[in-house]
Amino acid sequence: MRSGFTSLLGLAGVLFALGQAGPGKTPPTYHQDIRPMLERSCTPCHRAGGMAPFALDSYAAAFKRASLIRYQTIIKAMPPCVVRSDFGDFCETPAVTDAEIVTIQNWVRAGAPEGVRPSNPAPNARPPRWRLGPPDQVLRPSGAIEVPAEGSPYWRAYRLELKLPANARLRAFDLRPASPNVLRSALLAIAPAKLPAGAGKGFSTAATMNLPAQNLIGAWAPGYRAWSLPNGSVRTLQKGDRLLIQLHYRQTGKKEDGGFELGLYFQKSGAGADVRSVRLGKESFVIPANKNVTLASEFRLASPQRLVSILPEARFFASWIAVEAILPDGSEKMLFETLRWDPYWAGNYVFAAPPILPAGTVVRAKVTYNNDERCPANEGRKPKDVPSGPTLADEIFRVTLQLAGP
Ligand code: HEC
Repeated sequence: MRSGFTSLLGLAGVLFALGQAGPGKTPPTYHQDIRPMLERSCTPCHRAGGMAPFALDSYAAAFKRASLIRYQTIIKAMPPCVVRSDFGDFCETPAVTDAEIVTIQNWVRAGAPEGVRPSNPAPNARPPRWRLGPPDQVLRPSGAIEVPAEGSPYWRAYRLELKLPANARLRAFDLRPASPNVLRSALLAIAPAKLPAGAGKGFSTAATMNLPAQNLIGAWAPGYRAWSLPNGSVRTLQKGDRLLIQLHYRQTGKKEDGGFELGLYFQKSGAGADVRSVRLGKESFVIPANKNVTLASEFRLASPQRLVSILPEARFFASWIAVEAILPDGSEKMLFETLRWDPYWAGNYVFAAPPILPAGTVVRAKVTYNNDERCPANEGRKPKDVPSGPTLADEIFRVTLQLAGP
């Protein structure tokens, strides 16, 4: 089995082989080698007013946490929920490469030197008000949202009125939270007909809702992940559609403003291939106590399709999620593999260059669940059977793919 764990072992070997900065070799420095990596992969969250608990946007800040930076990147915990693919990068996860991890390692070993500050340093780029530019339409919840100071994880869903004068083609959406440090993730969907009464005022949910695949639009995560379809793909919204947004907040120990603005971006001219969603997974299963189980679900493409995005959903017993392609010639490719799964960071992974999969390709999603003594979710208790279900204590296996005709 290919797992995040074995790739970590492989990486340890690389670090061992390359990590020795030989005598006479100039060590990496903050300004020349570390700062560009931090600005690309870390400071979208680790900056003043960002969602992470501390900034990493100056030499002093990076120096103070140098060994933590090294550790968090080696174990692939930061940036959160990094993934890999045989089909290039995903737009929204600027992962740290193995070569960069070696550089960080050498930098820390050399005492984390500052290096020569560029004579005219680029000012710390302030993120624009909207990362994708001014939206075509902005929606807001109808009332104030107060996130309680503490308690169990806080999930709220809101129906939003859209009032489209005609069908429209959505190409992107972004969120601007009132308090960036509390909003962890959001799912946007076309509102299903059946929702709790007063859904416009919001209702609580136990965890991610089980929305029909065809209603799902996309997911949002903080820092740098707007949901944005690659050139030429759109999601058609029908006149009369209303939206449903589900938000996951974390608690900070004080009451916070959970308000947000949802910015929508429409494609106004030119062709656009409509994306449709296909869901893989299983509805009803049990992960037996003291067992490690890999569940799989697959489907075969009847015609060539462009794979635009992957949205994996699983919870605390899941340790590894992968989506493989078995091509018609029998060769296997990895479309998507989590290096370290964290259910709180679930996001929509949109391919920077969506691969075209030929007719006859089998797409197979797999999730490995660990339900033994070593599973962190079993800390302080004896493992017991974990069923699939709607709450955070249960498991799910749901992988939604967005496809577009080539
Ligand atoms: C998407 C937002 C985001 C990005 C990008 C990100 N972080 Fe973090 N980071 C967080 C949050 C939030 C926490 C606090 C822990 C948590 O809530 O998971 C954190 C915690 C940390 C910690 C403290 C961990 C501990 O156990 O004390 C370190 C060190 C860290 N990040 C380094 C980095 C580095 C280095 C990068 C870039 C390579 C990075 N982070 C990218 C959001 C982010």
